[in-house]
Amino acid sequence: MDDLPGAPPAVEPVPNDLDPFWMPFTANRHFKRDPRLIVAAEGMYYWSHDGRRVLDGTAGLWCVNAGHASPRIVKAIQDQAARLDYAPAFQMGHPRAFDLASRLISMMPDGISHAFFTNSGSESVDTALKIALAYHRMRGDGARTRLIGRERGYHGVGFGGISVGGIVTNRKHFGTLLAGVDHLPHTHDHAHNAFTRGQPEWGAHLADDLERIVALHDASTIAAVIVEPVAGSTGVLIPPKGYLERLRAICDRHGILLIFDEVITGFGRLGATTAAEVFGVTPDLITTAKGLTNGAVPMGAVFARQEIYDAFMHGPEHLIELFHGYTYSGHPLACAAAHATLDTYVEDGLFERVAELAPYWEDALHSLKGEPHVHDIRNLGLIGAVELEPIPGDPTRRALDVFRTGYANGALLRYTGDIIAMSPPLIIEKAEIDQLIDLLRQAIRSAA
Ligand SMILES: Cc1ncc(COP(=O)(O)O)c(C=O)c1O
Repeated sequence: MDDLPGAPPAVEPVPNDLDPFWMPFTANRHFKRDPRLIVAAEGMYYWSHDGRRVLDGTAGLWCVNAGHASPRIVKAIQDQAARLDYAPAFQMGHPRAFDLASRLISMMPDGISHAFFTNSGSESVDTALKIALAYHRMRGDGARTRLIGRERGYHGVGFGGISVGGIVTNRKHFGTLLAGVDHLPHTHDHAHNAFTRGQPEWGAHLADDLERIVALHDASTIAAVIVEPVAGSTGVLIPPKGYLERLRAICDRHGILLIFDEVITGFGRLGATTAAEVFGVTPDLITTAKGLTNGAVPMGAVFARQEIYDAFMHGPEHLIELFHGYTYSGHPLACAAAHATLDTYVEDGLFERVAELAPYWEDALHSLKGEPHVHDIRNLGLIGAVELEPIPGDPTRRALDVFRTGYANGALLRYTGDIIAMSPPLIIEKAEIDQLIDLLRQAIRSAA
């Protein structure tokens, strides 16, 4: 424990019984034998239950972009809880939700005009898919029911999200999923693109597979294509140069909506509000969550083009136009957290900071080339991944060891398959980048 202001008590006991909590996306039995509990957080650091300070290399789960316990965000949530704890979300409203929608739209690419609030990335994805289907139906084009995702895509855990998603472990236990879904090939190619810094040169043509899918099913049956501009949870797959542009052009040619799932890339990770802005490709719908509220209160938002909103706005005015929404859509606490988060991003210049830090981050990451079993390194903005060769016959074990050693030595990393993924808070200093990469280097060496 060190001498940071506000440092929490050194040690907090492990609860007597860990069993009743069925943990998400966790090896429950393994975890509960040797739990890793976090008891406090501030700035770039977590504190573990055994009194250690841990450098956050993952912004929690890609969400705490402004760093932990930012006083402005804390105060905004506290004040809002005391003033208006909850307001019904249907047929009623509260001012902060409307202010927030206007403010967010002013940050979105041109043409994006409306925001629909949800509580998570998964809900944002399912909302966007439903809006896409209903949009075509509203326009009298109701045969467009197919949804196209991509191999290795992660779009959360709702039935829509896992159907268009492309991670087999997230799909195989859950029956037949949505009907009428097809998948593009993923864009990762080690032979051509290993150790590329930023966007790979090779692979734009992979978008052309959408033409094959169109030829197979006919465009008149396809509602939307959904992709992560940068695939995160599957191990950081950076889009090849020209790939997203090509997807956009093919969608335009065939009247297919393009959805960018920006749950990870939204709100600064690549140095702008959206990846759409960074890549200069504007989709029809954008899904977000995570960095919208700095992870402090759950919230997501789906952003839609004017034409999409307009397609719903006909018929008698007293009738509901879209039969969809959540009890907590635009929750007052989430709105307060989002406003304070956006204030922080702007006033502290955090998106600009990403652009400044990205070259340093890239060099630091790529200094790991040549360490034992390092198979590939990928980066963009403040995202990075180090892919390790799997131990033969024991996939993910090596990355698990790196993750555990990193945590024991004071760095929170994330692993998915045999890939170590990193996405630190945007407030990270260069010295902390060095520290993070050193801890990762040590962990890689000791896992070898
Ligand atoms: C691209 C993407 N979409 C959707 C989700 C799901 O978000 P949530 O866990 O908030 O439901 C995630 C979560 O990591 C994500 O990375």
